[in-house]
Amino acid sequence: MERILIIDFGGQYNQLIARRVRECRVYCEVKPWNTPLEELKAFDPIGVIFTGGPRSVYQEGAPTVDRSIFTWGVPILGICYGCQLMAHLLGGQVVPAQDDSAREYGKTLTRYDAACKLFQGLPQEGVSWMSHGDYMSKVPEGFVLTARSDACPNAAMAHEGRGFYGVQFHPEVDHTEHGGDMIRAFLYQVCHARGDWTMGDYKGMAIARLRERIGAGRVLLALSGGVDSSVAAALLAEAVGPQLTCVFVDHGLMRLSEGDEVEEAFSRWDLNFVRVDAEARFLGRLAGVDEPEEKRKIIGEEFVRVFEEVAKGIGAVDFLAQGTIYPDVIESGAGEAAVIKSHHNVGGLPDYVEFQAIIEPLRLLFKDEVRQLGRELGLPEYLVNRQPFPGPGLAIRIMGEVTGEKVDALRKADFIFRDEVAKAGEDRGLSQYFAVLTNTRSVGVMGDGRTYDYTLALRAVTTSDFMTADWARIPYDLLDRVSSRIVNEVAGINRIVYDITSKPPSTIEWE
Ligand code: XMP
Repeated sequence: MERILIIDFGGQYNQLIARRVRECRVYCEVKPWNTPLEELKAFDPIGVIFTGGPRSVYQEGAPTVDRSIFTWGVPILGICYGCQLMAHLLGGQVVPAQDDSAREYGKTLTRYDAACKLFQGLPQEGVSWMSHGDYMSKVPEGFVLTARSDACPNAAMAHEGRGFYGVQFHPEVDHTEHGGDMIRAFLYQVCHARGDWTMGDYKGMAIARLRERIGAGRVLLALSGGVDSSVAAALLAEAVGPQLTCVFVDHGLMRLSEGDEVEEAFSRWDLNFVRVDAEARFLGRLAGVDEPEEKRKIIGEEFVRVFEEVAKGIGAVDFLAQGTIYPDVIESGAGEAAVIKSHHNVGGLPDYVEFQAIIEPLRLLFKDEVRQLGRELGLPEYLVNRQPFPGPGLAIRIMGEVTGEKVDALRKADFIFRDEVAKAGEDRGLSQYFAVLTNTRSVGVMGDGRTYDYTLALRAVTTSDFMTADWARIPYDLLDRVSSRIVNEVAGINRIVYDITSKPPSTIEWE
């Protein structure tokens, strides 16, 4: 199997590079920069990609790689820090930008040299995403400049003869126009990949790895009935079947009828399934708490405690499995990245967990890849296409303190929204849509009387990876129907607003 080696120098979106490579049907692995050289070499790649990273190449202790990598006779693509490192190690010069005009952050108009293999057949000018404080003041001998921006004449370099390329910008992010095509060109035109890798292969490898890791051990899976945990369940069921028990903790913060639906769907499968009704326990712990991170931490911790209890009942459980996916990991602050939210299945875990280890078989995949894997595993479309629902459930869609009354009101309103969206046939075009109960009350008039009730917000977004998202332009008359039904059918709500912010600067969920 042809492989691409991605050497990780600590950038925030390094897994996005891996995803782009997988999209091109080429197998790749991301390995830390300080992996022993023999191990990197034994991986036997057809090409190497150096990722970005937060440091400066001339800083003491900055991540680096053994120079001998340049003698392997394998093409190398350096991205941002990776490009600077290549220049630095091959005798070029990298310097800190003296003034702000030479630093570039964000969308930058860039001109490409069409003769360079990376840019052949692409528009000669386009927006690229830059994020660098240092720049290459001199490229190494034998290299030519292949892209430039106004602030930076050295935006890309190439040594076509040796197959070495460096780009100062980030081709892996969506903001770089044709960035995916540039990575494809590196794989196909430079590394001569055949592109024979598929999600079916990934499934086979993931199953083999799970079998090796779990051995004869017993696994408890946290199943929420959402896409991620359902796919994790199917994967583990195929890997270790009878050693697996799926535990569905109904925390009482699910959408309308969802608990029963999950039970119904999974009890039809040939696996050990346990439902734990823990509503009172969760609401009790959430009483009086209104800070979002605190809610998330409490829910994450309570989840694990419930699992531990179930595990004790079952006896001799070795592993706890979860359907954590890559955006959960990165937003919870992996490595150098900042914490945006503690996703309950990652950052919310308490330090002490009574299991030998935690298994997260989807940890490196993006949502659309998880769906693809689900199809490979034969999951039904309705499960694979389900809109995501956060682990902490409606608790993070109720601003302020969570009470049973508020959960009931939100559940009804959310159901009406989903029902009307589906009736209007708009559900297929939306990535996620739901209602949020704010803690703002306002004055209204109903019948002949004054009301002083809560404002409900509707949120609908489109996105491919859930790391960025756009608010959806859903039809006004659909909003109108939803609004009148909710104020008429749900007590305690007298005003409806529609959220028209994208991510960033907002997030998809309100907490
Ligand atoms: P945000 O609000 O961070 O959400 O833009 C991005 C995606 O992640 C989902 N989400 C979660 N999923 N546990 C999960 O399993 C969580 O704690 C969690 N918080 C947010 C959110 O619904 C959206 O799809």
